[in-house]
Amino acid sequence: MGKSFDPAKDIGSLDGKVILVTGGNAGLGKQTVAYLAAHSPTRIYLAARTESKARDAISDIKNSVPNACEIVFLPLDLTSFSSIADAASTFKSQESRLDILINNAGIMAPPYSTTKEGYEIQFGTNHMGHALLTKLLIPTMLDTAKQPGSDVRIVNLSSMGHQMPVSKGIEFDQQALEKESTWRRYGSSKLANILFARSLALEYPTITSVSLHPGVILTDLFDNLRTNIFMKVGLYIYGIIGMILPGHYQGPEGGALNTTWCATTAKDELESGAYYMPVGKKSSGSSFARDEGLRKKLWEYTEAELQKHGY
Ligand SMILES: NC(=O)c1ccc[n+]([C@@H]2O[C@H](COP(=O)([O-])OP(=O)(O)OC[C@H]3O[C@@H](n4cnc5c(N)ncnc54)[C@H](OP(=O)(O)O)[C@@H]3O)[C@@H](O)[C@H]2O)c1
Repeated sequence: MGKSFDPAKDIGSLDGKVILVTGGNAGLGKQTVAYLAAHSPTRIYLAARTESKARDAISDIKNSVPNACEIVFLPLDLTSFSSIADAASTFKSQESRLDILINNAGIMAPPYSTTKEGYEIQFGTNHMGHALLTKLLIPTMLDTAKQPGSDVRIVNLSSMGHQMPVSKGIEFDQQALEKESTWRRYGSSKLANILFARSLALEYPTITSVSLHPGVILTDLFDNLRTNIFMKVGLYIYGIIGMILPGHYQGPEGGALNTTWCATTAKDELESGAYYMPVGKKSSGSSFARDEGLRKKLWEYTEAELQKHGY
């Protein structure tokens, strides 16, 4: 059973903090922005692909959260390295600190395709895109971590689905991934989110880096599955399971709790590199999630790929 956590009462002061949430225009990301905005950070950057949805989300949050902090739309398409680089440089031109980076955006179970740089679309969006964004923002976060009283965090949204990856855990050959099922590709991308948070924790000890499963919540993430009546019934049952499983919640209000807890709970309650189930319950994850060789291989592969593209 996870911790009881009420964002209205349990979030401490976010005074002076600058926060960036990817995929903040919908689902869990939007709710996370709403929870955080109520606690007066200096600014929240809502990084998102679809501008109209981002503008609507900002106006919804401002209408529903009295005294919401400033929320700034930051254009970001995680399937394109140049878009990610533009987002990072826009951010850095406006801010000298970054206290909390929430790598929340994600896609699940689309048909095989690739990102602009040729990564399988789920691995490319969920892992490679966030890896580049994080890399470009790390210098700002390291500077922030040097400030007195700072508490800098990276929060990666993973999933229980990481337990169902391809047979090797992660397939680095992006073309070979076409033969795998879309679910296994999703599982591998979410496994990468856990392993990468562990690597960030080791590489950057002054930053607290964690990963998490948010729960089971019927958001737009499931759009690829609403293809026929059988899938719709299946999703309805999935929603009911979400209500029954302990620590799992129906609706973004519940689904954003674990992210918000990881981003705001007292630093000594968090273990850098750890993976959390809802809410705030440390979990070892799958055996692949604890595989030191795979963690190192993913880090080296990711660094080499980013360097190959000039980052
Ligand atoms: N919901 C669940 O039950 C569940 C369970 C386990 C894990 N998760 C994880 O939780 C995270 C949030 O999921 P959600 O349920 O809130 O899904 P969602 O409602 O579909 O929201 C996903 C967000 O990601 C953004 N996004 C997708 N592709 C992008 C791209 N190329 N560049 C920038 N942003 C992009 C979307 O923006 P646009 O709409 O503009 O494309 C949207 O804001 C994901 O990482 C997911 O894997 C969710």
